Amino acid sequence: MTWTAASIPDLSGRLALVTGANSGLGLETCRALVARGATVVMGCRSRQKGEAARQALLAVAGGPSPQAAAEDVNPSWGALDLLDLDLADLASVRAAAANVAASYGRLDLLINNAGVMAPPRSLSRDGFELQFATNHLGPFVLTSLLLPLLRQSSAGRVVHVTSGAQYFGRINFDDLQGERHYDRWRAYSQSKLANVMTALELQRRLQAEGSGVLSLAAHPGLARTNLQPASIAMNGSQLEALAYRLIDPLFQSAAMGALPQLYAATAPQASPAGHYGPNQLGGLRGHPTPVRMATAAGNPELRQRLWDVSEALGGLQS
Ligand SMILES: NC(=O)c1ccc[n+]([C@@H]2O[C@H](COP(=O)([O-])OP(=O)(O)OC[C@H]3O[C@@H](n4cnc5c(N)ncnc54)[C@H](OP(=O)(O)O)[C@@H]3O)[C@@H](O)[C@H]2O)c1
Repeated sequence: MTWTAASIPDLSGRLALVTGANSGLGLETCRALVARGATVVMGCRSRQKGEAARQALLAVAGGPSPQAAAEDVNPSWGALDLLDLDLADLASVRAAAANVAASYGRLDLLINNAGVMAPPRSLSRDGFELQFATNHLGPFVLTSLLLPLLRQSSAGRVVHVTSGAQYFGRINFDDLQGERHYDRWRAYSQSKLANVMTALELQRRLQAEGSGVLSLAAHPGLARTNLQPASIAMNGSQLEALAYRLIDPLFQSAAMGALPQLYAATAPQASPAGHYGPNQLGGLRGHPTPVRMATAAGNPELRQRLWDVSEALGGLQS
């Protein structure tokens, strides 16, 4: 049977944190989760954009917006909260995790969705290459700091949002930050391969400790979001702008692109370390289905090495 947002089970009482919640797949993920009754914490680096997105969700869905008339309020809706979170700033990541612990004291779902794609080489606040920092290291540290809350949940899940770019990825341990040679697409593919490697390694560790928390990965195929326009704005490539215009008919909506991560986050039949993507056109479009991970992610030594390096860079080793 085709899986859609209507297939999401009742999420009343569940607490979800979605990163990059103000735009694209993150926004659609919040919309679908809150519509099924979850309380959704929208992790955003811009308070202004986050609040605009939150208000847009509340207004469109007739949720508990201050503007909505009492009779318009949909009683099955959950709640939407904002959380300041800049993944390219580890102090912000640590503060966000501490805020979740202090404000809620619990967490059921973490969806590591935020990302940047193929900017010219630049550095995070902590001096890491921006894609490594935003797409891998920030989410890695956030996940580690939130695991104690997820472990307390009866249905804890972590979803790592990756990309088809993982299939072209290689973890260049000799030059992780692209200091000697930076290729912006290689750095993106590396970060997206790191997402699936982290998903697998985290699941292995959770199972070894006897935890019921699930770690999964998902990719959206090609989805019409702000990812490509933001990438063009950063790198100024007219060739890439033209390429996106030419392949535009292949892109599916952000709502469709969000389905694999929603499946990973909520479907009862999703498996530990499962990896989900669209089921048509070689994974570019369609409804969620299990899809293969990059072959490189299957190497346990590389996963362990990436984990150790990430713990060290993220300041997580005691
Ligand atoms: N769209 C696709 O075709 C596609 C394909 C494969 C994979 N993906 C993956 O899907 C995920 C979501 O992307 P999208 O397509 O929905 O793109 P998007 O519309 O550009 O959304 C990206 C989100 O990430 C946020 N973000 C960027 N840097 C951040 C930081 N340092 N700290 C916190 N948040 C940050 C953005 O915030 P601002 O609005 O403030 O910039 C935005 O909310 C990404 O991981 C991407 O790699 C997308």
